[in-house]
Amino acid sequence: MKTIQILVVEDERIVAEDIKMRLEKLGYAVPGIAFSGEEAVKKAENMQPDLVLMDIVLEKKMSGIEAASIISSRFNIPIVYLTAYADNKTLERAKITEPFGYILKPFEDREVYTTIEMALYKHKMGNMLKESEKRYRSLVENAHDAIYIITPSGFQYANPGFEKLTGWKTEELCKKEFNLWDIIHPDDKKLIKENKEAWKKGKEMPNSYEFRIITKDGRERTVEANTIDIGEDGEVKEMGILRDITVRKIAQEELLKSLEGLQKTSADTTDALVSALEMRDPYSAGHQKRVANLAWAIAEEMGLSGERIEGIRMAGLIHDVGKIQIPTEILIKPSLLSEIEILMIKMHPKIGFEIVQTIEFSYPVAQIILQHHERMNGSGYPAGLLADKILLEAKILAVADVVEAMSSPRSYRQALDINMIIKEINENKGILYDTKVADACLKLLSKKRSKSE
Ligand SMILES: [Fe+2]
Repeated sequence: MKTIQILVVEDERIVAEDIKMRLEKLGYAVPGIAFSGEEAVKKAENMQPDLVLMDIVLEKKMSGIEAASIISSRFNIPIVYLTAYADNKTLERAKITEPFGYILKPFEDREVYTTIEMALYKHKMGNMLKESEKRYRSLVENAHDAIYIITPSGFQYANPGFEKLTGWKTEELCKKEFNLWDIIHPDDKKLIKENKEAWKKGKEMPNSYEFRIITKDGRERTVEANTIDIGEDGEVKEMGILRDITVRKIAQEELLKSLEGLQKTSADTTDALVSALEMRDPYSAGHQKRVANLAWAIAEEMGLSGERIEGIRMAGLIHDVGKIQIPTEILIKPSLLSEIEILMIKMHPKIGFEIVQTIEFSYPVAQIILQHHERMNGSGYPAGLLADKILLEAKILAVADVVEAMSSPRSYRQALDINMIIKEINENKGILYDTKVADACLKLLSKKRSKSE
């Protein structure tokens, strides 16, 4: 383990040497001594020690408190004060610099050791907390969903996603007179009031509920809301997440309409969904049709029953339906995706599942869609399922999806050669892809290759 480096700041040479010796005896390294506040700042910058042991009263112009304030704010180095002066006024002044401990002169070695170790631990924890706060903040700021914190006196926080959804700027929202109630659709206010009252009476409520809002420019959006009570000690404070589900809602309504008209036949429902998707994203629709055909061929090669084959074909035709809720800019972005964008894309099986689960299919289409990015060794998403928990239909779709994606050109690469595709499936057979499915697919690919030769 690395020896802890401590910078000693003390203007009396003999005392300073004594402290240095005692620290070294305790197992610390003292790479330098500073005799004034000015020198302490310079040395802290050059040496970047793990901790500064600082005398409060120093001879020259800059006091220990001033030097400590510069060192801790500029270089994020913890300070422990070492002083004979412990009157309340001095302590008050020293407190402002948020020191990690005080040691009063004369002191015992044991006391120095405990104070330094505590200070280092507190500093490390503080840094970890700051890091996690930073990560959390960036997640919230970049979230596609609208996130807010509200109290009875108004908005306390709203993320950029809230502005994007409602059109209201954070400064406008945080003004006293702005009320969340005002943006709720008049017809949905009653429902929300009833929900709140039922919740107050202790009735069990669903985790999320839907309602409509009116944006600043008068448009109507449907949102799915999740609210959590985050008030402490009786304080009323609520954090809410609003997800824009307008597109999903429209797709569902279209589907339901077509269901009624088509006497709930699964095949027709899929066709309706496919054409709805085609209108929005022709590329995806083409991809899905090709995946469906290949999955169908693999299933047939494996000798599956006619009904299962039909289920696979249907799931294939709409397996990426969840992408309708992901911004097109991200789907077609030619450059590398950020962590948040990857997370958003990885949500599409779950969104697809939610869209499709309300439709009465005679096959487990929603489950197949949910699992089409799962991999045999658990490295897939969204659930990281292992082989025996994945439906055979989803395993077939997974292989068909990979093969189709590799054989189609992308904005950042050309279509891959059939030999490379065969290599990929062969190498990951039994690892990522189901062996039987991979073998059936390889048989089809080999046939195709010999035909083209
Ligand atoms: Fe997908």
